[in-house]
Amino acid sequence: MSNSKGFTLWFTGLSGAGKSTLAQYLIPMFRDMNCNVECLDGDEVRENLSKGLGFSKEDRDTNIRRIGYVANMLSRNGVISITAAISPYASIRDEMREKCDAAFVEVYVEAPLEVVEARDTKGLYKKARAGIIKQFTGISDPYEEPKNAEITVHTGDQSIEESAQAVLDYLHAKGLIPAKEAQKA
Ligand code: ADX
Repeated sequence: MSNSKGFTLWFTGLSGAGKSTLAQYLIPMFRDMNCNVECLDGDEVRENLSKGLGFSKEDRDTNIRRIGYVANMLSRNGVISITAAISPYASIRDEMREKCDAAFVEVYVEAPLEVVEARDTKGLYKKARAGIIKQFTGISDPYEEPKNAEITVHTGDQSIEESAQAVLDYLHAKGLIPAKEAQKA
C-alpha cells in the first residue's frame, strides 16, 4: 500500500542548474519510502503536453500553468509531484502555489550563471551567447530568483547527496515524508 502524502515539489532554477538530476536522484528514494511519485520535467513536457510552445513570456507562462495543473491533480491524490522546469517568473510560480490544494514546496536549485555556463551540458549557452538561440534564460531572458523558497540548494558547491539531504530534511521536518527514511540520502 502507498505511504504517500501528496505534495508538490516545485524546482526552479537556470538551465543546467541540476533540477532534473536532483529530481531523478530523489525519485527512487521516495519509491523506497513506498510513496507514489511523478516528475513533470520541462524538457519532457515540452515534447508532449506543451509541444509547439516557444520561450516568450506568454508561452513559458502557458507551459508552467499546464505543469502546475497536472502537478496539482496528482499531488491532491497522494502523489509526490516533482516539477523540474526553469519557471523563471516569480508571479506565475506564486500563482501555482496559490492554486495548489496540497502542500507546495518551492526548491530553488541555485547555481551561478558562470557555473552553468561552464557546464553547458546541452551546448545551449554557447548558442545563446552566439545569438543562435534567442530569449535564453540568464543570457537574453530574465530569471527571477525566488525570495521565499522553502529550500535552496547550491549545486555549484554541494554534492548531489547534500542537496538531496537538504530536501529530505525539510520534508521530514514538515511531516511530509516518513521519519526514518529521511536519514537515508
Ligand atoms: S520554462 O521557462 O518554460 O520553465 P522549460 O524548463 O520548460 O522552460 O524548458 C527549458 C529547457 O528548454 C532548457 O533546459 C533547454 O534545454 C531548452 N531551451 C531551449 N530554448 C530555450 C530558451 N530560450 N530559454 C531557456 N531554455 C531553453
